[in-house]
Amino acid sequence: MDQSSHAASRKSSSATPGPASGRVTVILTAGVAALGGLLFGFDTSVISGAMLFLKTDFRLTDVQLEFAVGVALGGALVGSALAGYSTDRWGRRWMLLVTALGFGLFAVLSGLATGLVSFSVARFFVGACIGIASLTVPLYISEMAPARIRGALVSLNQLAITVGIGVAYFIDYALAGSSNWRWMFASAVLPAIILLIGMIFLPESPRWLARQGFRERALAGFRRLGRGDEAEAELAEVEGALQEEQEGFSSLLQPGFRVAVLVGIGLAIFQQITGINTIIYYSPSILRMAGYPSDKAAILAAAIIGVANVLITVVSILLVDRLGRRFLLLLSTAGMTVALGFVGAAFYRHTGGMAVFGGVIAYIFSFGIGLGPVMWLLISEIYPTKIRGKAMSLATLSVWGANWVVAGTFLSLIHAAGPAGTFWIYAFICVLAFIFCYAFVPETKGQSLEAIERHWRHFGEKPAA
Ligand code: BGC
Repeated sequence: MDQSSHAASRKSSSATPGPASGRVTVILTAGVAALGGLLFGFDTSVISGAMLFLKTDFRLTDVQLEFAVGVALGGALVGSALAGYSTDRWGRRWMLLVTALGFGLFAVLSGLATGLVSFSVARFFVGACIGIASLTVPLYISEMAPARIRGALVSLNQLAITVGIGVAYFIDYALAGSSNWRWMFASAVLPAIILLIGMIFLPESPRWLARQGFRERALAGFRRLGRGDEAEAELAEVEGALQEEQEGFSSLLQPGFRVAVLVGIGLAIFQQITGINTIIYYSPSILRMAGYPSDKAAILAAAIIGVANVLITVVSILLVDRLGRRFLLLLSTAGMTVALGFVGAAFYRHTGGMAVFGGVIAYIFSFGIGLGPVMWLLISEIYPTKIRGKAMSLATLSVWGANWVVAGTFLSLIHAAGPAGTFWIYAFICVLAFIFCYAFVPETKGQSLEAIERHWRHFGEKPAA
């Protein structure tokens, strides 16, 4: 290379980051945004260890306690309903900034609560932040990521959720000795501050900028993310797709996109009604029912389940861009069916705690390899840019609505159908989830978001045979 070309390359590398530094920016962006996932996991789980202390300190009846536990889920429903419109209107970055602030503020206020009312108000707003983050984090990462590694990057969100759940158990356990429930909630302020500071420095999604008509900023954004010479082409593809897209809720009902919207809602509901949070929220009770000798043994087993959940998510991240979304989903729902069938049989035949524990671990492995991370990934990539926020709102609303129903009915179901019957019902729903994924979920591995959009358009154009 001669001197002038050296100078030229130095000049271009100072204007646009090279692929290596661009890759670092993308990974850093995804990593920081995923802290929103960590807060989601942490804040949904931390209540489990704090609940008994709340009951004593605030002298709560069972009904009041149930309300205090469930109020965050209500907030998440409201947050996810509002998040779609707001992220489309004010941008992904602003929403994450505001959410980080809210997570921090209301974590502290939950810790300072003086009674049921102030606690419930604070937890409702924590829930709203969970709802917003559950939508905005995967959406933001998905719009920034290069197609080739989008699956892995968006799934960092699920990894962070599982880590957040694990950290919550650990903090609950560490603070239980001193009955210090206030710090259990308030400790979420730390990741919230890191997220807030991170979001001040991270860029806005170039796809959202293009949608708002900020062409130069969108181009600079793609360059900053290491797209180099391909930045122009990527922006042109985004702009081309945007021209064909319509705004508004009615566009959710266009023939091709209608199917995409239904696929997202279906995946979201199946992710919940196949029973994951019966295990995440109630595993110590389930293991005690199965004959575990003590609460301590059951809590230890629950911690092992938490670690298994994190580890399998790492495996999924390594595989999702190679084996594809469909394969992992089918493997996952098939595995969940067998595992839950086995858990039901272990209860039916009274084979004891270890057999149930084995079945539950197999179930967590099956969920974590596919339906867990891949649901969040697919709902962040299957919709056109102009309606992505609104369509994701419908899907995340379905997640939180179904979560609420399952968490609220599990114990009654156990009473009505017995543990064996209950897990067989969930196993049957897993079969339906398998059929749904086989019939309706498209493969999106390695495709640009705009290419995925074209898939739905063609779907809509198909003659009705
Ligand atoms: C689900 C949560 C669940 C978590 C467990 C997420 O994908 O949406 O409801 O608690 O996975 O890892």
